[in-house]
Amino acid sequence: MANSAAVPEQEPLSTKSENIGLSTRGGIVVLDFGGQYTQLIARRIREQEIFSAILPCNATIEEIKRLQPSGIVLSGGPSSVYDIDAPACDAKVLGLGVPVLGICYGMQWMARTLGGNVVKAERREYGPATLDREKDSALFRGLPEHLKVWNSHGDHVAGLPAGFETTGRTDNAVAAIEDQSRHLYGVEFHPEVLHTERGTEILRNFAFEICRAKKNWDRASFISETVESIRKRVGNAHALCALSGGVDSAVAAALVHRAIGDRLINVFVDTGLLRQNEFAETLELLRDRLGLNVTGVNASERFLARLTGVTDPEDKRKRIGAEFIAVFAEESRRLAAETGGTAMRFLVQGTLYPDVIESVSVKGPSATIKTHHNVGGLPKDLPFELIEPLRDLFKDEVRMIGRELGLPEEILSKHPFPGPGLAVRLLGEITPEKLEILRGADAIVVEEIRRGGVYDKIWQAFAVLLPVRSVGVMGDFRTYGYTIAVRVVASEDAMTADWVRLPWEILERISVRVVNEVRGVTRVVYDVSSKPPSTIEWE
Ligand code: XMP
Repeated sequence: MANSAAVPEQEPLSTKSENIGLSTRGGIVVLDFGGQYTQLIARRIREQEIFSAILPCNATIEEIKRLQPSGIVLSGGPSSVYDIDAPACDAKVLGLGVPVLGICYGMQWMARTLGGNVVKAERREYGPATLDREKDSALFRGLPEHLKVWNSHGDHVAGLPAGFETTGRTDNAVAAIEDQSRHLYGVEFHPEVLHTERGTEILRNFAFEICRAKKNWDRASFISETVESIRKRVGNAHALCALSGGVDSAVAAALVHRAIGDRLINVFVDTGLLRQNEFAETLELLRDRLGLNVTGVNASERFLARLTGVTDPEDKRKRIGAEFIAVFAEESRRLAAETGGTAMRFLVQGTLYPDVIESVSVKGPSATIKTHHNVGGLPKDLPFELIEPLRDLFKDEVRMIGRELGLPEEILSKHPFPGPGLAVRLLGEITPEKLEILRGADAIVVEEIRRGGVYDKIWQAFAVLLPVRSVGVMGDFRTYGYTIAVRVVASEDAMTADWVRLPWEILERISVRVVNEVRGVTRVVYDVSSKPPSTIEWE
């Protein structure tokens, strides 16, 4: 059954911890084989208050050991272990003495590396299955004998490596294996997806029962450690932050403010493309309720002048980005001069974890890094060092940290709003008149979505102004006005999104109010496209 198993040598874990915060030591490292659920694995582990970091599968042993993990998960992935360019980890990860859980491709890679037999599949097996447990396993402690699980795999393990035993099967195929003495575990199905019944408990068992991980990821210690390290790093210098009015930049600013007080200077730019009352309300919220030192810059005329006559979506985005950079650069030079020139050394950004994870290219070991989200791509000649206090966090964790910091719910529960603002929701040329119409319609959409109790359950709800005019009748008059499209989507992470099946009553109220209250609109339509193939925004 087993070929000559390449048993890796045991490697002692490093005790060095340069740059690693207390709360990020002793967590679970997820090695990414390019699977679509990799981020979910890390989130499910963090939900247990254990830190989890994602590294590309080809991370070096040194990089892995630097995090001092108490366990390692090998993710799933789209490849076959028989592909010429099949992604691989350094086989030494199986000999660190740290428990390893291979999921799907992760299990197949582990089995094959240790001399087991993996059978190549003709086509992928996708969908629900029943796991029948065999033998006692710490991985399934406290769980029933039969479990509904979610499969999404091609190849499968047919022959076990020496020392392994089968602990579960689906339809008579091997679905769970382990070698207790070497602390190596594998499951063919995906415990991280909600379709797997009690899947989170399987991951929890792995973390607590098998890895003996300790809870080390809680909000209070994250905040105190982060504040302390920012304080040390910034010293007596000043930092600058561009606020967008959204959650991420507000939480990032609040953390830095806690560390260095008013030596953090925030800039909030009115691009003229914000929603109704948004500039004044957000400014008040940030200053009065959050106590931040915010400079509000009214630049709407500059932005609108730069957009005159422009209809192409990409051109709009580029011009807005360039104008933002110009305004920000001017402001930062002015503020730097006010605070003593060279003292303004740091730039705060609300970059999140999904923006910085290196994802493996499934075509081979070359790691590709996603471009960082930042404020319109700030120019390199602004002489700043970056502070990104949220770069270890997922969006939901950012909200929790914000809550712990005492940020108002108005900010924390706010729907995302794109950097280019209403410009990408107003199709065709942007004029002050059309912006006025869009603002009015958008305010009604959001108000009715809130009134219907839907706002907090969805990802985004907004209005789009189409450059399409149609005939209507109001009283005795024929009208000829614009069309408003209503976009309401549910999503976990904006990578995919589904249109929301709103109750007719809410749609009716929106439609009646928009046509009656917003001059210039004769028709309201509902967008029933999902992403993919459509995107959430219209431009
Ligand atoms: P799409 O339209 O690509 O949008 O499906 C996905 C999510 O991203 C937001 N979005 C942006 N956010 N700058 C941003 O900060 C942008 O240029 C931008 N474009 C889209 C969008 O609102 C949705 O939540």
